[in-house]
Amino acid sequence: MNFPSDVTVVGLGYVGLPLTLAFAAEMPTTGFDNDESRIVQLRAGNDRNREVESSLITASDLVLTSDYSCVTEAEFIVVTVPTPVTEDNRPDLSLLESASSMIGRCLRDRSHGSSTPIIVFESTTYPGCTEDFCGPIIERESRLKSGEGFVLGYSPERTNFGDAEHTLETVVKVVSGQTAEGAKVISDVYSRIAKAGVHMAPNIKTAEASKVIENVQRDLNIALFNESAMIFDRMGIDSSDVFDAAGTKWNFHRYQPGLVGGHCIPVDPYYLTYAAKQVGYDANVILAGRSVNEGMVPVIGEKIQQLVTEAGQLPGESDVLVLGQTFKGDVADFRNSKAIHLSDSLAGSFKSVTRFDPYGEYNEANKDPFAGDARFGAVVLAVPHSQFVESITAVRELVASGGVMVDLTGSIKSSQMLDFDGLFWKL
Ligand SMILES: NC(=O)c1ccc[n+]([C@@H]2O[C@H](COP(=O)([O-])OP(=O)(O)OC[C@H]3O[C@@H](n4cnc5c(N)ncnc54)[C@H](O)[C@@H]3O)[C@@H](O)[C@H]2O)c1
Repeated sequence: MNFPSDVTVVGLGYVGLPLTLAFAAEMPTTGFDNDESRIVQLRAGNDRNREVESSLITASDLVLTSDYSCVTEAEFIVVTVPTPVTEDNRPDLSLLESASSMIGRCLRDRSHGSSTPIIVFESTTYPGCTEDFCGPIIERESRLKSGEGFVLGYSPERTNFGDAEHTLETVVKVVSGQTAEGAKVISDVYSRIAKAGVHMAPNIKTAEASKVIENVQRDLNIALFNESAMIFDRMGIDSSDVFDAAGTKWNFHRYQPGLVGGHCIPVDPYYLTYAAKQVGYDANVILAGRSVNEGMVPVIGEKIQQLVTEAGQLPGESDVLVLGQTFKGDVADFRNSKAIHLSDSLAGSFKSVTRFDPYGEYNEANKDPFAGDARFGAVVLAVPHSQFVESITAVRELVASGGVMVDLTGSIKSSQMLDFDGLFWKL
């Protein structure tokens, strides 16, 4: 197999757009998204996810299109479509299915004598999905044999959005392929953009499993810290003091307790538990971690009510301000945000709940509290956006005299609250 002359990325979201730009800096690249409005915006240099600067998009040589026929003669196809879960936490493969069937239909029309196309999936999924679910769909639609008429690959996305340090350039990329020859080409292509290097997994299933276990590990560790924090809180012990003390041991790994939202960490474990079930194994530990992290919103909601009561206020007469509504700090992604869930749940027991996020649109529902003089019976720092973390004094000043300051992010040090005249509680 020869080194491909071009790359075509299918799905230009958080993962796909930066990847397309990275490939475009190295070789002819096409970015395809079936959402036409996304293509119109990107052509104008507007990334609605606010991950990529406008000038990087407009200065790039990439071709942006919502016309799937770009896939027909593509030599190296990378799929980065979403892999969410259903209401009952089972893998929702509908987008992988439609992308695979579109690719298969395109390949059926491919010119005779064209090179063997390579199709690399980057969407997070369970071990076996690429070869046992996507491959047969492409086979059926293209009438080509998987591993012969086209070659599959898998390379998990690892970039931590909102984190300038861990990027495509600085993080080793795991790659894998269905055949030895295909894997070599996939490794060579990714080596162009993964400046920190590539790690060749022995097969596709291993690469798929490696991605999902990375997020399972993170979910479980946070669950352990959430559970510990709630136990120590009931014992009247400051959990961050405990973690500081334990952290002096060489093999204690410290995590920050908190809300686990978004579309990776709370979702990916269910892909593995589903696949485990298929092979007759109940993944109890993984599911227990999920249950702890999913249960944090009501636990924290009750805690805030208790704190407000302790501060001598009635929740039904108190105004609460929740700072941050995205699913994590310094990203503009509101999908499956636990800060939103928390705000919604507080609205049932407090007089009013004001929400503010600097990444939201400024309007009546998202007015900057730092610009006004309203003060709140309780202020909850729910998301560690830099704007908040770098101005803890201004955050504190939003609390009414004798009110409650809650930090769910580990951003406020006790030393910053020594002269606070209300009640301070951190997770
Ligand atoms: N966002 C992250 O932080 C992150 C990190 C690692 C891995 N992942 C994984 O990467 C995958 C993509 O996630 P994302 O956050 O980039 O998703 P996203 O929702 O931001 O973007 C997906 C894009 O794919 C497009 N799309 C959907 N179906 C399509 C189709 N059939 N053809 C063409 N385009 C299609 C959508 O219009 C959208 O623009 C998921 O599997 C996710 O789990 C995401």
